[in-house]
Amino acid sequence: MSPGATDECRQERPRGTVPVRILGIESSCDECSAAVVEDGRRILSNVVLSQVEFHKPYYGVVPEIASRKHIEWILPVAEDGLAQAGMRAEEVDAIAVTFRPGLIGSLLVGLSFAKGLAWALGKPLIGVDHMLAHLYAPHLEREIAYPYLGVLVSGGHTIIARVERHDQIEVLGTTIDDACGEAFDKVAKHYAMGFPGGVAIDMLARSGDPRAYHFPKPWLHKGQALYDVSYSGLKTAVIHQSDQFWNKTSAKSLENIAASFQKAAVDILVDRALAAAEDSGLRRIVAGGGVAANSYLRARLGAEQGLEVIFPSLALCTDNAAMVAGFAYHELVAGRVSDYSLNAEARVPMFKRKYP
Ligand code: KG4
Ligand code: ZN
Repeated sequence: MSPGATDECRQERPRGTVPVRILGIESSCDECSAAVVEDGRRILSNVVLSQVEFHKPYYGVVPEIASRKHIEWILPVAEDGLAQAGMRAEEVDAIAVTFRPGLIGSLLVGLSFAKGLAWALGKPLIGVDHMLAHLYAPHLEREIAYPYLGVLVSGGHTIIARVERHDQIEVLGTTIDDACGEAFDKVAKHYAMGFPGGVAIDMLARSGDPRAYHFPKPWLHKGQALYDVSYSGLKTAVIHQSDQFWNKTSAKSLENIAASFQKAAVDILVDRALAAAEDSGLRRIVAGGGVAANSYLRARLGAEQGLEVIFPSLALCTDNAAMVAGFAYHELVAGRVSDYSLNAEARVPMFKRKYP
Protein backbone atom coordinates (compact mmCIF):
# COMPACT_ATOMS: atom_id res chain seq x y z
CA MET A 1 0.00 0.00 0.00
CA SER A 2 1.30 3.44 -0.79
CA PRO A 3 2.17 5.67 2.16
CA GLY A 4 -0.73 7.67 3.52
CA ALA A 5 -3.34 5.73 1.58
CA THR A 6 -5.22 4.74 4.70
CA ASP A 7 -5.93 8.32 5.64
CA GLU A 8 -6.62 9.56 2.18
CA CYS A 9 -10.38 9.88 2.51
CA ARG A 10 -10.31 11.20 6.04
CA GLN A 11 -8.69 14.46 5.12
CA GLU A 12 -10.54 17.49 6.31
CA ARG A 13 -9.65 20.65 4.46
CA PRO A 14 -7.05 22.60 6.45
CA ARG A 15 -8.40 25.83 7.93
CA GLY A 16 -8.08 28.82 5.65
CA THR A 17 -7.84 26.85 2.43
CA VAL A 18 -10.44 27.10 -0.30
CA PRO A 19 -12.91 24.26 -0.96
CA VAL A 20 -12.54 22.17 -4.10
CA ARG A 21 -15.87 21.64 -5.83
CA ILE A 22 -16.23 19.18 -8.65
CA LEU A 23 -19.13 18.75 -11.04
CA GLY A 24 -19.69 15.04 -11.73
CA ILE A 25 -21.56 13.63 -14.72
CA GLU A 26 -22.86 10.05 -14.87
CA SER A 27 -24.57 8.53 -17.92
CA SER A 28 -23.17 5.00 -18.19
CA CYS A 29 -26.52 3.19 -18.26
CA ASP A 30 -30.07 4.45 -17.72
CA GLU A 31 -29.60 7.08 -15.02
CA CYS A 32 -28.78 10.60 -16.11
CA SER A 33 -27.09 12.32 -13.21
CA ALA A 34 -25.14 15.43 -12.27
CA ALA A 35 -23.75 16.31 -8.85
CA VAL A 36 -21.48 18.79 -7.16
CA VAL A 37 -19.28 17.42 -4.38
CA GLU A 38 -16.97 19.47 -2.20
CA ASP A 39 -13.58 18.15 -1.13
CA GLY A 40 -14.51 14.60 -2.07
CA ARG A 41 -16.97 14.36 0.82
CA ARG A 42 -19.70 16.97 1.00
CA ILE A 43 -22.55 16.40 -1.44
CA LEU A 44 -23.84 19.84 -2.46
CA SER A 45 -26.24 18.37 -5.01
CA ASN A 46 -26.95 14.98 -6.57
CA VAL A 47 -29.60 15.07 -9.29
CA VAL A 48 -30.51 11.62 -10.61
CA LEU A 49 -33.08 11.25 -13.38
CA SER A 50 -34.07 7.65 -13.95
CA GLN A 51 -35.22 6.35 -17.32
CA VAL A 52 -37.00 3.36 -15.74
CA GLU A 53 -40.42 4.16 -17.20
CA PHE A 54 -39.01 4.11 -20.76
CA HIS A 55 -37.34 0.71 -20.38
CA LYS A 56 -40.04 -0.93 -18.26
CA PRO A 57 -42.09 -2.22 -21.23
CA TYR A 58 -39.02 -4.18 -22.39
CA TYR A 59 -38.00 -5.53 -18.94
CA GLY A 60 -34.46 -4.32 -19.64
CA VAL A 61 -32.44 -1.29 -20.68
CA VAL A 62 -32.71 -0.63 -24.42
CA PRO A 63 -29.36 0.95 -25.36
CA GLU A 64 -30.67 3.23 -28.09
CA ILE A 65 -33.49 4.57 -25.94
CA ALA A 66 -30.95 5.14 -23.15
CA SER A 67 -28.57 7.23 -25.25
CA ARG A 68 -31.38 9.23 -26.83
CA LYS A 69 -32.78 10.10 -23.38
CA HIS A 70 -29.33 11.12 -22.17
CA ILE A 71 -29.02 13.48 -25.14
CA GLU A 72 -32.33 15.12 -24.17
CA TRP A 73 -31.64 15.26 -20.46
CA ILE A 74 -27.94 15.87 -19.95
CA LEU A 75 -28.02 19.67 -20.21
CA PRO A 76 -31.06 20.28 -17.95
CA VAL A 77 -29.77 17.71 -15.46
CA ALA A 78 -26.36 19.42 -15.31
CA GLU A 79 -28.03 22.83 -14.95
CA ASP A 80 -30.15 21.44 -12.14
CA GLY A 81 -27.12 19.90 -10.44
CA LEU A 82 -25.36 23.27 -10.46
CA ALA A 83 -28.49 25.19 -9.42
CA GLN A 84 -29.17 22.89 -6.46
CA ALA A 85 -25.56 23.39 -5.34
CA GLY A 86 -26.07 27.16 -5.67
CA MET A 87 -23.25 27.42 -8.19
CA ARG A 88 -22.54 28.65 -11.66
CA ALA A 89 -20.56 26.43 -14.02
CA GLU A 90 -17.63 28.89 -13.97
CA GLU A 91 -17.26 28.33 -10.22
CA VAL A 92 -16.53 24.59 -10.28
CA ASP A 93 -12.91 23.47 -10.10
CA ALA A 94 -13.15 20.50 -12.45
CA ILE A 95 -15.54 18.39 -14.52
CA ALA A 96 -15.58 14.66 -13.74
CA VAL A 97 -17.29 12.10 -15.94
CA THR A 98 -17.79 8.35 -16.11
CA PHE A 99 -15.95 7.06 -19.19
CA ARG A 100 -16.13 3.28 -18.53
CA PRO A 101 -17.55 0.63 -18.28
CA GLY A 102 -21.11 0.84 -19.55
CA LEU A 103 -23.30 1.20 -22.60
CA ILE A 104 -21.12 2.88 -25.18
CA GLY A 105 -23.80 5.18 -26.59
CA SER A 106 -24.80 6.30 -23.11
CA LEU A 107 -21.20 6.85 -22.01
CA LEU A 108 -20.46 8.92 -25.12
CA VAL A 109 -23.24 11.38 -24.34
CA GLY A 110 -21.91 12.19 -20.86
CA LEU A 111 -18.29 12.15 -21.99
CA SER A 112 -18.86 14.46 -24.97
CA PHE A 113 -20.89 16.81 -22.81
CA ALA A 114 -18.21 16.87 -20.10
CA LYS A 115 -15.42 17.45 -22.62
CA GLY A 116 -17.29 20.35 -24.22
CA LEU A 117 -18.01 21.91 -20.85
CA ALA A 118 -14.45 21.48 -19.56
CA TRP A 119 -13.06 22.99 -22.76
CA ALA A 120 -15.47 25.92 -22.79
CA LEU A 121 -14.77 26.71 -19.13
CA GLY A 122 -11.05 25.99 -19.27
CA LYS A 123 -11.39 23.52 -16.37
CA PRO A 124 -9.66 20.16 -15.86
CA LEU A 125 -11.45 17.08 -17.17
CA ILE A 126 -11.31 13.92 -15.04
CA GLY A 127 -12.39 10.56 -16.48
CA VAL A 128 -13.74 8.19 -13.82
CA ASP A 129 -14.22 4.42 -13.82
CA HIS A 130 -17.83 3.65 -12.92
CA MET A 131 -17.08 0.59 -10.76
CA LEU A 132 -14.38 2.40 -8.77
CA ALA A 133 -16.87 5.23 -8.31
CA HIS A 134 -19.42 2.72 -6.91
CA LEU A 135 -16.79 1.60 -4.43
CA TYR A 136 -16.21 5.22 -3.45
CA ALA A 137 -19.92 5.88 -2.76
CA PRO A 138 -19.87 4.90 0.95
CA HIS A 139 -16.82 7.12 1.45
CA LEU A 140 -19.17 10.05 0.83
CA GLU A 141 -21.05 9.14 3.97
CA ARG A 142 -18.40 8.11 6.46
CA GLU A 143 -14.72 7.67 6.99
CA ILE A 144 -13.47 4.29 5.81
CA ALA A 145 -9.87 3.23 6.24
CA TYR A 146 -8.03 1.24 3.56
CA PRO A 147 -7.35 -1.59 2.88
CA TYR A 148 -10.61 -3.53 2.76
CA LEU A 149 -12.44 -6.17 0.80
CA GLY A 150 -14.64 -4.59 -1.86
CA VAL A 151 -17.78 -6.36 -3.03
CA LEU A 152 -19.04 -4.69 -6.19
CA VAL A 153 -22.35 -5.96 -7.50
CA SER A 154 -24.18 -4.27 -10.33
CA GLY A 155 -26.10 -5.07 -13.49
CA GLY A 156 -22.92 -5.77 -15.43
CA HIS A 157 -20.33 -6.77 -12.83
CA THR A 158 -19.71 -8.93 -9.81
CA ILE A 159 -16.28 -8.20 -8.36
CA ILE A 160 -14.62 -9.26 -5.13
CA ALA A 161 -11.44 -7.25 -4.69
CA ARG A 162 -8.74 -6.23 -2.30
CA VAL A 163 -8.95 -2.44 -2.21
CA GLU A 164 -5.75 -0.58 -1.35
CA ARG A 165 -6.80 2.90 -2.32
CA HIS A 166 -9.68 4.60 -4.14
CA ASP A 167 -8.05 3.84 -7.50
CA GLN A 168 -6.09 0.72 -6.66
CA ILE A 169 -7.83 -2.63 -6.49
CA GLU A 170 -6.72 -6.21 -6.95
CA VAL A 171 -9.52 -8.32 -8.38
CA LEU A 172 -9.70 -11.57 -6.40
CA GLY A 173 -12.90 -12.88 -7.92
CA THR A 174 -15.36 -12.03 -10.67
CA THR A 175 -18.24 -13.76 -12.35
CA ILE A 176 -17.30 -16.27 -15.02
CA ASP A 177 -20.60 -15.72 -16.85
CA ASP A 178 -23.55 -13.51 -15.85
CA ALA A 179 -23.32 -10.71 -13.34
CA CYS A 180 -25.40 -11.00 -10.17
CA GLY A 181 -27.71 -8.08 -11.10
CA GLU A 182 -28.07 -9.51 -14.60
CA ALA A 183 -29.37 -12.77 -13.10
CA PHE A 184 -31.94 -10.80 -11.06
CA ASP A 185 -32.96 -8.90 -14.20
CA LYS A 186 -33.28 -12.03 -16.37
CA VAL A 187 -35.28 -14.01 -13.81
CA ALA A 188 -37.59 -11.03 -13.28
CA LYS A 189 -38.02 -10.61 -17.04
CA HIS A 190 -38.87 -14.28 -17.57
CA TYR A 191 -41.55 -14.24 -14.88
CA ALA A 192 -42.71 -10.70 -15.76
CA MET A 193 -42.07 -9.69 -12.15
CA GLY A 194 -41.19 -6.07 -12.95
CA PHE A 195 -38.30 -3.77 -13.81
CA PRO A 196 -35.63 -3.19 -12.58
CA GLY A 197 -35.55 -6.91 -11.83
CA GLY A 198 -33.58 -6.63 -8.62
CA VAL A 199 -36.00 -4.19 -7.08
CA ALA A 200 -39.02 -6.28 -8.16
CA ILE A 201 -37.53 -9.53 -6.80
CA ASP A 202 -36.48 -7.89 -3.54
CA MET A 203 -40.07 -6.67 -3.04
CA LEU A 204 -41.74 -9.97 -3.99
CA ALA A 205 -39.31 -11.96 -1.85
CA ARG A 206 -40.50 -10.16 1.27
CA SER A 207 -43.71 -12.20 1.19
CA GLY A 208 -42.13 -15.40 -0.11
CA ASP A 209 -40.59 -18.48 1.49
CA PRO A 210 -36.86 -18.83 0.68
CA ARG A 211 -37.09 -22.59 1.36
CA ALA A 212 -39.80 -23.21 -1.22
CA TYR A 213 -37.21 -24.07 -3.88
CA HIS A 214 -33.72 -25.50 -3.38
CA PHE A 215 -31.95 -23.95 -6.33
CA PRO A 216 -28.45 -25.26 -7.14
CA LYS A 217 -25.31 -23.30 -6.35
CA PRO A 218 -22.14 -23.56 -8.42
CA TRP A 219 -18.95 -24.84 -6.89
CA LEU A 220 -15.99 -23.38 -8.74
CA HIS A 221 -12.38 -24.15 -8.16
CA LYS A 222 -10.47 -23.28 -11.28
CA GLY A 223 -6.79 -22.73 -10.69
CA GLN A 224 -6.36 -19.61 -8.63
CA ALA A 225 -9.86 -18.30 -9.24
CA LEU A 226 -11.01 -19.31 -5.78
CA TYR A 227 -13.34 -16.39 -5.35
CA ASP A 228 -15.06 -16.45 -8.72
CA VAL A 229 -18.82 -16.76 -8.91
CA SER A 230 -21.20 -18.03 -11.59
CA TYR A 231 -24.83 -17.17 -12.15
CA SER A 232 -25.83 -18.72 -15.44
CA GLY A 233 -26.55 -22.16 -13.92
CA LEU A 234 -28.75 -20.65 -11.23
CA LYS A 235 -30.51 -18.46 -13.79
CA THR A 236 -31.22 -21.45 -16.04
CA ALA A 237 -32.48 -23.52 -13.11
CA VAL A 238 -34.85 -20.77 -11.98
CA ILE A 239 -36.12 -19.98 -15.46
CA HIS A 240 -36.31 -23.41 -17.09
CA GLN A 241 -36.18 -26.06 -14.38
CA SER A 242 -37.85 -24.56 -11.34
CA ASP A 243 -40.16 -27.56 -10.88
CA GLN A 244 -37.15 -29.83 -10.37
CA PHE A 245 -36.05 -27.79 -7.38
CA TRP A 246 -39.47 -27.26 -5.85
CA ASN A 247 -39.84 -28.30 -2.25
CA LYS A 248 -43.33 -29.77 -2.43
CA THR A 249 -44.43 -28.59 0.98
CA SER A 250 -44.65 -24.96 -0.23
CA ALA A 251 -46.80 -23.30 -2.84
CA LYS A 252 -45.57 -22.62 -6.36
CA SER A 253 -45.76 -18.85 -6.41
CA LEU A 254 -43.83 -15.90 -7.79
CA GLU A 255 -43.13 -14.74 -4.25
CA ASN A 256 -41.62 -18.13 -3.38
CA ILE A 257 -39.55 -18.23 -6.58
CA ALA A 258 -38.31 -14.69 -5.89
CA ALA A 259 -37.39 -15.46 -2.27
CA SER A 260 -35.67 -18.75 -3.11
CA PHE A 261 -33.75 -17.28 -6.07
CA GLN A 262 -32.70 -14.23 -4.07
CA LYS A 263 -31.41 -16.42 -1.26
CA ALA A 264 -29.39 -18.58 -3.66
CA ALA A 265 -27.99 -15.59 -5.60
CA VAL A 266 -26.93 -13.75 -2.47
CA ASP A 267 -25.58 -16.87 -0.75
CA ILE A 268 -23.32 -17.57 -3.76
CA LEU A 269 -21.84 -14.09 -3.43
CA VAL A 270 -21.60 -14.01 0.36
CA ASP A 271 -19.97 -17.43 0.46
CA ARG A 272 -17.13 -16.29 -1.84
CA ALA A 273 -16.80 -12.87 -0.21
CA LEU A 274 -16.46 -14.42 3.25
CA ALA A 275 -13.88 -16.90 1.96
CA ALA A 276 -11.89 -14.03 0.43
CA ALA A 277 -12.13 -12.04 3.67
CA GLU A 278 -10.95 -15.02 5.69
CA ASP A 279 -8.03 -15.88 3.40
CA SER A 280 -6.88 -12.30 2.87
CA GLY A 281 -7.19 -11.35 6.52
CA LEU A 282 -9.26 -8.32 5.56
CA ARG A 283 -11.85 -7.84 8.29
CA ARG A 284 -13.64 -4.91 6.69
CA ILE A 285 -16.02 -5.39 3.78
CA VAL A 286 -17.34 -2.49 1.73
CA ALA A 287 -20.15 -3.13 -0.73
CA GLY A 288 -21.24 -1.06 -3.72
CA GLY A 289 -23.34 -1.12 -6.89
CA GLY A 290 -27.07 -1.47 -7.53
CA VAL A 291 -27.36 -4.96 -6.02
CA ALA A 292 -25.88 -3.61 -2.76
CA ALA A 293 -29.39 -2.21 -2.22
CA ASN A 294 -30.69 -5.77 -1.81
CA SER A 295 -32.31 -6.19 1.59
CA TYR A 296 -31.32 -9.85 2.03
CA LEU A 297 -27.68 -9.13 1.07
CA ARG A 298 -27.58 -6.25 3.55
CA ALA A 299 -29.07 -8.40 6.29
CA ARG A 300 -26.86 -11.43 5.57
CA LEU A 301 -23.54 -9.63 5.44
CA GLY A 302 -24.56 -7.28 8.21
CA ALA A 303 -25.16 -10.24 10.53
CA GLU A 304 -21.59 -11.55 10.15
CA GLN A 305 -19.74 -11.53 13.44
CA GLY A 306 -16.18 -10.27 13.62
CA LEU A 307 -16.41 -8.27 10.41
CA GLU A 308 -17.02 -4.60 9.83
CA VAL A 309 -19.50 -4.44 6.96
CA ILE A 310 -20.24 -1.14 5.26
CA PHE A 311 -23.00 -0.47 2.74
CA PRO A 312 -23.79 2.84 1.06
CA SER A 313 -27.24 4.27 1.79
CA LEU A 314 -29.82 3.08 -0.75
CA ALA A 315 -29.69 6.31 -2.75
CA LEU A 316 -25.94 5.90 -3.27
CA CYS A 317 -26.10 2.21 -4.26
CA THR A 318 -27.61 2.86 -7.67
CA ASP A 319 -25.97 5.00 -10.31
CA ASN A 320 -25.36 8.61 -9.32
CA ALA A 321 -22.92 11.38 -10.14
CA ALA A 322 -21.98 12.20 -6.54
CA MET A 323 -19.79 9.10 -6.39
CA VAL A 324 -18.10 10.23 -9.63
CA ALA A 325 -17.42 13.74 -8.36
CA GLY A 326 -16.25 12.42 -4.98
CA PHE A 327 -13.82 9.97 -6.52
CA ALA A 328 -12.49 12.63 -8.90
CA TYR A 329 -11.44 14.87 -6.01
CA HIS A 330 -8.65 12.44 -5.13
CA GLU A 331 -7.56 12.30 -8.75
CA LEU A 332 -7.41 16.08 -8.98
CA VAL A 333 -5.47 16.35 -5.73
CA ALA A 334 -3.00 13.77 -7.04
CA GLY A 335 -2.62 15.77 -10.27
CA ARG A 336 -4.20 13.09 -12.44
CA VAL A 337 -6.39 14.72 -15.04
CA SER A 338 -7.53 13.47 -18.43
CA ASP A 339 -6.85 14.95 -21.82
CA TYR A 340 -9.32 15.38 -24.66
CA SER A 341 -8.33 12.09 -26.27
CA LEU A 342 -10.24 10.31 -23.48
CA ASN A 343 -12.69 7.90 -25.10
CA ALA A 344 -15.54 5.75 -23.83
CA GLU A 345 -14.86 2.08 -23.06
CA ALA A 346 -17.67 -0.46 -22.78
CA ARG A 347 -15.57 -2.97 -20.82
CA VAL A 348 -12.63 -3.08 -18.44
CA PRO A 349 -10.65 -6.28 -19.09
CA MET A 350 -9.51 -6.80 -15.49
CA PHE A 351 -13.11 -6.68 -14.22
CA LYS A 352 -14.04 -9.89 -16.02
CA ARG A 353 -12.10 -13.10 -16.23
CA LYS A 354 -11.76 -14.64 -19.62
CA TYR A 355 -12.18 -18.37 -19.84
CA PRO A 356 -11.57 -20.11 -23.14
O1 KG4 B 1 -25.19 -0.06 -10.32
P1 KG4 B 1 -26.46 -0.13 -11.06
O2 KG4 B 1 -27.51 0.90 -10.74
O3 KG4 B 1 -26.18 -0.06 -12.61
C1 KG4 B 1 -25.08 -0.73 -13.16
O4 KG4 B 1 -23.94 -0.21 -12.99
O5 KG4 B 1 -25.32 -1.83 -13.70
O6 KG4 B 1 -27.04 -1.59 -10.85
C2 KG4 B 1 -28.21 -2.00 -11.48
C3 KG4 B 1 -28.49 -3.42 -11.06
C4 KG4 B 1 -29.66 -4.04 -11.83
O7 KG4 B 1 -29.29 -5.33 -12.24
C5 KG4 B 1 -30.76 -4.07 -10.78
O8 KG4 B 1 -31.71 -5.11 -10.99
C6 KG4 B 1 -29.95 -4.29 -9.52
O9 KG4 B 1 -28.83 -3.46 -9.67
N1 KG4 B 1 -30.67 -3.91 -8.30
C7 KG4 B 1 -30.95 -4.81 -7.32
C8 KG4 B 1 -31.68 -4.11 -6.34
N2 KG4 B 1 -31.79 -2.81 -6.75
C9 KG4 B 1 -31.16 -2.72 -7.95
N3 KG4 B 1 -30.68 -6.12 -7.22
C10 KG4 B 1 -31.11 -6.76 -6.11
N4 KG4 B 1 -31.83 -6.16 -5.14
C11 KG4 B 1 -32.13 -4.85 -5.20
N5 KG4 B 1 -32.84 -4.26 -4.22
ZN1 ZN C 1 -23.66 1.18 -11.64
